[in-house]
Amino acid sequence: MCGIVGFTGEDTALPILLDGLRRLEYRGYDSAGVATAASGALHTCKNPGKIAALTAKTETQPLPGGTGIGHTRWATHGGPTEANAHPHFDGDCGIAVVHNGIIENYRELRAALLAEGVCFRSETDSEVLPHLFRKHYRGRLLDAVRAALDEVQGAYALAVICADEPGVLVGARQGSPLVVGIGDGAHYLASDVQPLLPHTRQVIYLGTGELCELTPDTCHLETLAGGVVPLRIETAGQDEAAADKAGYPHFMLKEIHQQPAVLERLLGAYTQDDRVVLPELGGIAEALPAIRRIQIVACGTAWHAGLIGKYLIETFARVPVEVDVASEFRYRNPVLDSDTLVIPVSQSGETADTLEAVRLAKAAGAMVLGVINVPGSSIAREADGLLYLQAGPEIGVASTKAYTAQIMVLALFALQVAALRGMMDAKAVAQHLVEMRGLPGKVQWAIDRAPAIEAIARLPRYAQARNAMFIGRGFNFPSALEGALKLKEISYIHVEGYAAGEMKHGPIALVTDGIPVVCIATQGPVYDKLASNIQEIRARNGHVLSIATEGDAEIAEVSDDVIHVPPCTDAFSPLVVASPLQLFAYYVALALGRDVDQPRNLAKSVTVE
Ligand code: G6P
Repeated sequence: MCGIVGFTGEDTALPILLDGLRRLEYRGYDSAGVATAASGALHTCKNPGKIAALTAKTETQPLPGGTGIGHTRWATHGGPTEANAHPHFDGDCGIAVVHNGIIENYRELRAALLAEGVCFRSETDSEVLPHLFRKHYRGRLLDAVRAALDEVQGAYALAVICADEPGVLVGARQGSPLVVGIGDGAHYLASDVQPLLPHTRQVIYLGTGELCELTPDTCHLETLAGGVVPLRIETAGQDEAAADKAGYPHFMLKEIHQQPAVLERLLGAYTQDDRVVLPELGGIAEALPAIRRIQIVACGTAWHAGLIGKYLIETFARVPVEVDVASEFRYRNPVLDSDTLVIPVSQSGETADTLEAVRLAKAAGAMVLGVINVPGSSIAREADGLLYLQAGPEIGVASTKAYTAQIMVLALFALQVAALRGMMDAKAVAQHLVEMRGLPGKVQWAIDRAPAIEAIARLPRYAQARNAMFIGRGFNFPSALEGALKLKEISYIHVEGYAAGEMKHGPIALVTDGIPVVCIATQGPVYDKLASNIQEIRARNGHVLSIATEGDAEIAEVSDDVIHVPPCTDAFSPLVVASPLQLFAYYVALALGRDVDQPRNLAKSVTVE
């Protein structure tokens, strides 16, 4: 979603701001803008569309000054126009603001400002901020921002500059993340660490309800109530090189290819000989034998991983597991108590609905175990225990390596719960680990078949389809949902995923001549049932693309096309079918000329509900 960068130092701010915005592009956006302070005035450039267009525009009108702010906007209030792009300004263009999040009481604030004679230039909720800051300005920007935010309700991260204080950059956080970077004679501000990494690894994660006042040489933190906050400097751990494409044409393809290494890393980190070892469980480890149920909350791809987690935990550990989409969970008055373990699954650790679900769970006395990729993220900070995904930065909007890492971590957790609750003896755990250690190789085997998958994906019956369906059963019902989501989000083809057993209850009405149906039909307990579903699709002239176990001649006979995966225990098969489904979506999208890494309307980190 929206991204913020800010800089104050000796160097010219503009190139640093533009580079920072490029490093935030992955979050998803539809317009961008920058503003700098120099010689007692503010200078700005904004543009609907990509950073490249903004950069080209700044070449004809370079912005002077060593202090500035920049923003990528994902439209919420008002379309992606130049007027709605950030930064936004007060009436005299002396204060500029970039904002992430939503100002919930902006209507009332706007009405009051209008009544006072303020003119608005945009349709955004954000524009109330610079006008409010101006109203409270008495000579120090920090004080004006603090006083004005007292009137503001909602979740936000913001960065502010002022013509009268050209070396000062003010940031504030209420909910949406904001990170300060500490450089040599310079300070940086950003919504995540990626824009900071070329300059510094010394960072401060602003806490919620905190403000910062930065100059080239000073960094001052305080609370919205005015209390001074000590500087908590941390070293950012993420490897900058991780944000490069490493020779791949897209981040998504790079991240698909990283999956065997990520799975290998997780097995190395979370197993020792023939045992599962989860060091960051904290106090949850002692509570695990007594918990009565588990509640998983997540959004999007992470929700699909959570559904697979349910199958794994219930199969191995026999603990009842519920899985909710976080946006539903938080408003359905869920039954929670101290015997419930709540597991938020989230790549970013910042998804607004998942974060609120965590807060709800904690308020109800439940323990929270985060399954999170981004260290230092809000959910990572608020959870009682953690299982880090260790997948490295995931830049492609369509989640790939975080998904398989989530499944692997939930599988290891399921084994651990099973062992602690006496549902599985040490020998059985060891046997599963032997199988799991073979999984990175199996995933690699499937990825190595990318050329065959590309050839299938480019066939007109798939690449030119207007509608498609994915079906699966058991452990691979969520795989069907995820395969469908991957294809729809990056190709824009209308695709739905179904439990194969549900076909007769409605979806089969959609099967007509030539509709592609991707059937996940790996060997396992529900294989025969799936084979029957395939026959039913064939009988209605659907095109069948099967994801099937290598050597399965029976499925090949009834399918138009087959993508093979290596033989695998049913419980772990979602890991093996994931990369072929991702590659299929990737190559269909490529054939259609789509923007694979930044699909339209989507954001990597959904920080508003
Ligand atoms: C967005 C992303 C998805 C992701 C979902 C949940 O929709 O585009 O790829 O699965 O958010 O994000 P999270 O960071 O919580 O896993």
